[in-house]
Amino acid sequence: MKNTPINYEVVTRKIQESGLESVGKASIREVKKLINTIEEETGDKFVRMEMGIPGLPAVQIGVEAEIEALKSGVAAIYPDIQGVPQLKNEISRFCKLFLNVDVNPDGCIPTVGSMQGGFAAFMTVNRMDPEKNTTLFLDPGFPVHKQQHRVLGIKYESFDVYNYRGDKLKEKLESYLSKGNISSMIYSNPNNPSWICFTEKELKIIGELANKYNVVVMEDLAYFGMDFRQDISTPGEPPYQPTVAHYTDNYILFISSSKAFSYAGQRIGMMVISDGLFNRKAEGLKRFYNSDRFGYAMIFGTVYCLSSGTAQSPQYAIAAILKAANDGKYNFVEAVKSYGEKAAVMKKLFTENGFNIVYDMDEDNPIADGFYFTVSYPGFTGEELLNELIYYGISAISLAITGSERLEGIRACVSLVKVEQFGDLEYRLQQFHQHHTVDNQ
Ligand SMILES: Cc1ncc(COP(=O)(O)O)c(C=O)c1O
Repeated sequence: MKNTPINYEVVTRKIQESGLESVGKASIREVKKLINTIEEETGDKFVRMEMGIPGLPAVQIGVEAEIEALKSGVAAIYPDIQGVPQLKNEISRFCKLFLNVDVNPDGCIPTVGSMQGGFAAFMTVNRMDPEKNTTLFLDPGFPVHKQQHRVLGIKYESFDVYNYRGDKLKEKLESYLSKGNISSMIYSNPNNPSWICFTEKELKIIGELANKYNVVVMEDLAYFGMDFRQDISTPGEPPYQPTVAHYTDNYILFISSSKAFSYAGQRIGMMVISDGLFNRKAEGLKRFYNSDRFGYAMIFGTVYCLSSGTAQSPQYAIAAILKAANDGKYNFVEAVKSYGEKAAVMKKLFTENGFNIVYDMDEDNPIADGFYFTVSYPGFTGEELLNELIYYGISAISLAITGSERLEGIRACVSLVKVEQFGDLEYRLQQFHQHHTVDNQ
């Protein structure tokens, strides 16, 4: 019987009862369920860092606009598949004011979360040219995107960018793109799980190679504005959110409302298709759609089939939030800065107790403090670490499920951890450190 912060016997029994072979190998939802049962029996609260869900209330401007929209009767009416005009216009303005990118409202399409935007894009882009049928993941990445590929039966290739930062990225990317089978590249920036952010040099490399090899770049901006090292919050003024759109006209951006506007529950995101891609004709599309025009096929083929558009009232919510941000009346970056502040303290607590940050640099700069960070402990694989940390009341997920080659690492998400829990976190990490002295490994 070991003396761990959470009752050793209860944790061991609950793991056995869960039937999980290893906590470290479990999916995010399985970890969540297991910890709920341990919390219930012991009455001890875990420092929960496994799920990437917003920890803040939804932006009120959106909630009010949505209520108004419902009162006005929109619930009875099918939405236009391409989105309500005022939302499309505000998305286009948002792109100009916060990304410094010109995009026609036609290519600004609401989707049922960014999740659906990804699904729709993978499906449509990989049908443009029968030769180009494979997506390239710039990993580590969001595991569900790979699951979407498996469900769709679309091929993908991937590599971990950790060892290919800066100039090295060019040669590595060309080794894939020159084969001719790659239709598109996908990455998130800031990155889930590692919180690395591509530098301007790297974005330029990606954009220029997309032009050279006629490959679509899918840039997932789920954490828009949340690289707090630079404040992008003033509309129409630099600095802007870094984007590959400054280097290529062959892009699709996914802008999620879930984290930036804490609007995850209403399942609404934005897919932004560049004017060039929106209007492009691709012979391969004719096999599946009535039109060979990409934008048309996307809206009236793919999005129509998936959900016939996006629920009306959340569209009015996001239109109102974006309008307030675009008009300089709502600072959406300020509203989520607390994530970065928490990360700074939590990373310090980990590193003071023998842990290392796994993905720690953007070329020459230390990575930002934000929604996620990655840690390891000497002598442990990520899986072993999670199996052990659960006895210390700390939960996270293994990097192994994200396409990372850094199998020693785990991902910690700061959003659900309350400042009042920092004392518990510190004590538990100290206990862990004492019980696992690095010399004994
Ligand atoms: C990188 C990334 N992309 C997409 C999503 C999903 O966003 P949405 O809630 O808009 O579907 C997430 C959510 O965690 C994410 O981390």
